[in-house]
Amino acid sequence: MKLFLDTANLKEIDEINKWGVLDGITTNPSLLAKEGKIGFEAHVREICNLVDGPVSVEVTSTNFSGILKEGREIASWAENIVIKVPMTPDGLRAVSELRYDGIDTNVTLCFSPNQALLAAKAGARFVSPFIGRLDENGQDGMILIAEMVKIFQNYHFNTEILVASVRHPRHVTEAAKLGADAATIPFDSFKKLIGHPLTDSGLEKFLSDWKNAKIK
Ligand code: G3P
Repeated sequence: MKLFLDTANLKEIDEINKWGVLDGITTNPSLLAKEGKIGFEAHVREICNLVDGPVSVEVTSTNFSGILKEGREIASWAENIVIKVPMTPDGLRAVSELRYDGIDTNVTLCFSPNQALLAAKAGARFVSPFIGRLDENGQDGMILIAEMVKIFQNYHFNTEILVASVRHPRHVTEAAKLGADAATIPFDSFKKLIGHPLTDSGLEKFLSDWKNAKIK
């Protein structure tokens, strides 16, 4: 399972990247806005230099020609950029067109299995189901993941299921059990993947036993 970090923060990317398990980055307009006064292009280029894997960058145009123009421009900034496109008729149309140009896409704001089916048929490289927002809306995000995995297996789609809007480590475990291709995880939840109190107390005991040992 691929693990992506859902952030536009360079420090967070650098810290997790050092673990050697990071497969890529996803950003969105809200995450970039959180970084304050930055140059959009310069910042995206910095992120792309930090990681080898795909870096999703979202367009803010909503009409077909605007999405295409913006997508082509952003994609020219680095080899590993994936253009994030909203799940709309214009967005879907742009996915097919960008694919023709050899530009990878990530269809975002996916909340239903039929939306995912359409993104796969259009030829998106990734589709991003927002499970946390579904849970908060009184639905079960994991049901969507299970349905998507089944549909994509039935028809051998190559589009990767990139579980997004992750709220806690259990979301990652459940997504992995269901066979999702990837999850994009916020920094705080990513750090929680590695922690366990028994690991901490176990290490403490090993080290104190070693310190008191009579081994030469
Ligand atoms: O980046 C897309 C998605 O992960 C955003 O999640 O936390 O805004 O629901 P969130």
